[in-house]
Amino acid sequence: MPQSAERLAKLPPYIFAVQGQRIQEMLTRGQDVISLDIGSPDLPPPPAVIEALSASAHHPNNHGYAGYRGIPAFRQAVARYYQRRFGVTLDPEREVLPLIGSKEGIVNLCLGYLDRGDIALVPDVGYPSYSMGARLAGADVYWLPVNEKMGFRPNLEAIPSEIANQAKILWINYPNNPTGATAELEDYARLVNFCRENDILLASDNPYVDVTYDGYCAASVLQVSDAKSCAVEFMSFSKTYNMGGWRLGAAVGNPEALKILLQIKSNVDSGHFKAIYDAGVTALDNTPSSWIEERNHVYQRRRDQIMAVLPFIGLQAKKPKGSLYIWGRVESGNGTKYVDKALNEALIALAPGAAYGPGGEQYVRISLGIPDDRLEVALQRLKDWYAKTSLSVS
Ligand SMILES: Cc1ncc(COP(=O)(O)O)c(C=O)c1O
Repeated sequence: MPQSAERLAKLPPYIFAVQGQRIQEMLTRGQDVISLDIGSPDLPPPPAVIEALSASAHHPNNHGYAGYRGIPAFRQAVARYYQRRFGVTLDPEREVLPLIGSKEGIVNLCLGYLDRGDIALVPDVGYPSYSMGARLAGADVYWLPVNEKMGFRPNLEAIPSEIANQAKILWINYPNNPTGATAELEDYARLVNFCRENDILLASDNPYVDVTYDGYCAASVLQVSDAKSCAVEFMSFSKTYNMGGWRLGAAVGNPEALKILLQIKSNVDSGHFKAIYDAGVTALDNTPSSWIEERNHVYQRRRDQIMAVLPFIGLQAKKPKGSLYIWGRVESGNGTKYVDKALNEALIALAPGAAYGPGGEQYVRISLGIPDDRLEVALQRLKDWYAKTSLSVS
């Protein structure tokens, strides 16, 4: 067999694929591993969405290619959602583009904008696809350190001007994976200004905008006036409507960026079949806000349950107002070691903080997407394990 491409040297195997394989092997051996590592909602989508998929799939004419830009009804429903939810007006023809999940859009946007030697500004820590997309494109990643004190927001003043001049994309994500941090409109306004001044595409990855707690309501970057001149936002059905496996999302905002994204995508994929878009329209138009509130209430309860246990398992965290995660700082030692030991000794899978950037080394991420009964077992197991090992996980 020929050698694999050189670019793979800069693209390590996806950590969750590796860990998932290890967990699968343990399960096959009969070990009862409980996964708190993956951010996949455990609850189903609204019933009307499943019915819409089924009704549309029964239609004999709905099984062909539905077009590189999806169907107009879907783009219009996304525009209606933005109007209703954020007061943002989008042109469904030029400012909305369906995605096969936002992960696809993230990586393809990198391919559309970045060449060898270009720079992407990526928060350290952040969702791994921002840096992996840049590397796949041959570009360099300039890490923007974020920490608890700064509310996990990048310090734009600390970016050297020669880096700002060379950078082409800046990634942001609030409510944030993995930290649970949130951003307000004034934060978004600062980011828009910075990107406009430095001719940078601001890419706001926003899959958790409707996964919030304690009455908190998250914003869209497009609420900043004239943000569309430099910004795109990725919205996703995965977390808002519990549709992770359906692979449905959309990019919205700057029309030029969406045109470039479409140029890549139309050469790479052929979109979804119509039933997925029809189901997406139902999700956007017909999901009552009470459904989202009740679902978020379930996550909020789990969040509080986990927060109460952290002191007994050697972790510290700030209570998140949004996202699907608790970002726990390991009190003594290293996140990767902690994760290894928890998996081997307590059969609990957690996500190592280092997977989200060099700044995550001392952290582990705990997902709220786990059924209540399993969460209870998992937390008890972690408590028993930590008490017994009395370990220094360093
Ligand atoms: C911050 C962030 N962006 C993007 C994604 C990918 O979402 P999708 O299922 O829409 O591809 C995830 C998934 O966990 C995420 O956490």
